[in-house]
Amino acid sequence: IRVLSVTSECAPLVKTGGLADVAGALPGALAPLGVEMRTLLPGYPRVMAAVGRGKAVLEDPDLFGGPARVIAARAGGLDLLVLDAPHLFGREGAPYNGPDGRDWPDNPERFAALGWVAAEIAGGALTDWQPQVLHCHDWQAGLAPWYLRDRHPQAPVGSVLTIHNIAFQGLAPGDRLARLRLPPDGMTPGGFEYWGNISALKAGLVAADRITTVSPTYADELLTPEFGMGMEGVLRARQDVLSGILNGVDLDAWTPSYKTPAGKRRYTARLRAAMGLPAADGPLCVVVSRLTHQKGLDLLLEALPRLLDEGGQLALLGSGEPGLEAAFRTAAARHPGVAVTFGYDEALARLLIEGGDAILVPSRFEPCGLTQLYGLRFGTLPLVAYTGGLADTVIDASPAGLRAGVATGVQFHPVSAAALSRAFDRLCALYRQPDLWLRMQRNAMRHPVGWDQSAAEYAALYDGLIRT
Ligand code: ADP
Ligand code: GLC
Repeated sequence: IRVLSVTSECAPLVKTGGLADVAGALPGALAPLGVEMRTLLPGYPRVMAAVGRGKAVLEDPDLFGGPARVIAARAGGLDLLVLDAPHLFGREGAPYNGPDGRDWPDNPERFAALGWVAAEIAGGALTDWQPQVLHCHDWQAGLAPWYLRDRHPQAPVGSVLTIHNIAFQGLAPGDRLARLRLPPDGMTPGGFEYWGNISALKAGLVAADRITTVSPTYADELLTPEFGMGMEGVLRARQDVLSGILNGVDLDAWTPSYKTPAGKRRYTARLRAAMGLPAADGPLCVVVSRLTHQKGLDLLLEALPRLLDEGGQLALLGSGEPGLEAAFRTAAARHPGVAVTFGYDEALARLLIEGGDAILVPSRFEPCGLTQLYGLRFGTLPLVAYTGGLADTVIDASPAGLRAGVATGVQFHPVSAAALSRAFDRLCALYRQPDLWLRMQRNAMRHPVGWDQSAAEYAALYDGLIRT
């Protein structure tokens, strides 16, 4: 099966969050199942630097305001089609914003161009390769299924849109129709219109043949007003084609170098040294996260005294909202048991996950979440909110979970500071029972977090879309 994956970020080349990990892992996970996946990615400066000059397989003298080419190249272990369009992507800064942190004002056009080129490739624009399935990720690729249906209705290509996070909907003012090369008759509630705006995400939700998201629980949650964020009606109308497929972890990249608790303790000591934390009686809890409202870290700040009272510690690595950074900085200044580092640092992220006793993910919503999966793999027990993928990947140390001997972590519900405080009580009580803790670590490290099952589900999904 030939699949074109369309994404705005892809590890190891460019990453702001879990989307990059997943887009980067899918081709390798699916290859053994006979899926030949090529990844279409914007040619940001660091992507262009990684692929070099490459071979142009498509040229367009006027792609949304300037000349563009598609370069076929291999980099980072991936079979890439890079959209080299300097007027759109040749800028320093992050993928979605400039050095000042503000979104690029022409983001709608930038990613419309990505979707446009994806649809052209799906429509047969390359001489030697045409996908059978177009797999689009998030709003940045949301217009691709729309353009495909609009411009190449006869193309023998099925389309899938995967929702990694419904909070990002790709809105543009309604008066940009012509600039986005969209037809006026799509500007309706049944089309891509969203409260007077154009939504790239909604365009994909209405036009794609199938919709997936990254966990079964989030797929259900998306149908409710609380989690659907305004898209619940569109999704309810399409629930027959909506499903949840869990993210996996690249097991080769995420393998602990220890098998025993003694081995792990060396990393815990190393982590304490790196973060400047003293020895402690309670669990060393770690967080590796974007600092945003989604992640519920304000609740962690509120519940933190309970963890510290019980002798626990917190080591946090994150970047994001300045208000949250300031609050964590204050907490670290007040308590010797709290250490924080701000910025993006993959090596430190790994040490936190290797050395922590527990990893905290108190998210208000979490489509899948990856850090709890890394935690499982390293015997760093997840303490997570009971929502989305966190509900689907962790087995709570409930009375039932403990009696059956299958618990891998602690879940709390509702997502509040009070419930998180009680979860800290439970976590610390478990930690004081070394045999029980060890049993849970073993369960966690054995829990299958690889791609096997999910890759098979994607392959089956693609299979069902094949038209030739
Ligand atoms: P999201 O995509 O919502 O941010 P995920 O848990 O799916 O959440 O993925 C986050 C990814 O980004 C993980 O691979 C995590 O290790 C990584 N990550 C998050 N913050 C940092 C950071 N400050 N430094 C290094 N890696 C980070
Ligand atoms: C999003 C979600 C996260 C998910 C990731 C990859 O960023 O917030 O839960 O794991 O996408 O699918």
